[in-house]
Amino acid sequence: MISKKMTKALNKQLNHEFFSAYLYLSMSAHCSKNDYNGSAKWFLLQYEEEHQHATRIYNYLIEQGASITLEALEKPSKKFGTLLEIFKLSLEHEQLMTRSLNELSDMALKEKDHATYNLLQWFVNEQVEEEASVGEIIAKLKMVKSDGYGILMIDNELGQRSLPENGDA
Ligand code: FEO
Repeated sequence: MISKKMTKALNKQLNHEFFSAYLYLSMSAHCSKNDYNGSAKWFLLQYEEEHQHATRIYNYLIEQGASITLEALEKPSKKFGTLLEIFKLSLEHEQLMTRSLNELSDMALKEKDHATYNLLQWFVNEQVEEEASVGEIIAKLKMVKSDGYGILMIDNELGQRSLPENGDA
C-alpha cells in the first residue's frame, strides 16, 4: 500500500509521461511535414516509449491498489524549428523529467516506501540513457551545422532506430 501523497505524486508523473508521449508525437508530425523522415520515425518510437513509461506507472498503481486519476493533458506545441532546435527542446524536456523523478525518489525514501523507490530507480536509470542518447544526437547535429548532406546522413541514421523487443524501454 502506498500513501495518499505518493499516489497523488505518481498520478502526476503518469500525466507527465503521457504529455511526453504527446510532445514527441507532435515533434514526429513536424519532422514528417518537413521531410525529416528518419527523425519522424525516431520521435514516433520515442512516443511509444513514453507510452510504455506511463503504462509502467499505471500498472504499478493498480498493483498497489491505489487510485488512478487521469487529468487533462497539456496541449503540446506544434511549432518547432530546425532538427537541432527540436533535439535541444527534447533534451530540456528530459532534464525536467529527470528532476521530477529525482524529487519522487526523494519522497519515496523519506516515506521509507522501498517498493516505489525501486520502481523509480528504473526510471532514473532510464533517464541517464535518454539524456545521453539525445545529447549524442545534438553533438552530431552541431558538428554538421547547416550542411545539408550531413543533416541528411544523421536523419537517415535516426531512422534506423528500433525499440528493444522486450519492451523494456
Ligand atoms: Fe519517460 Fe523520456 O522519460
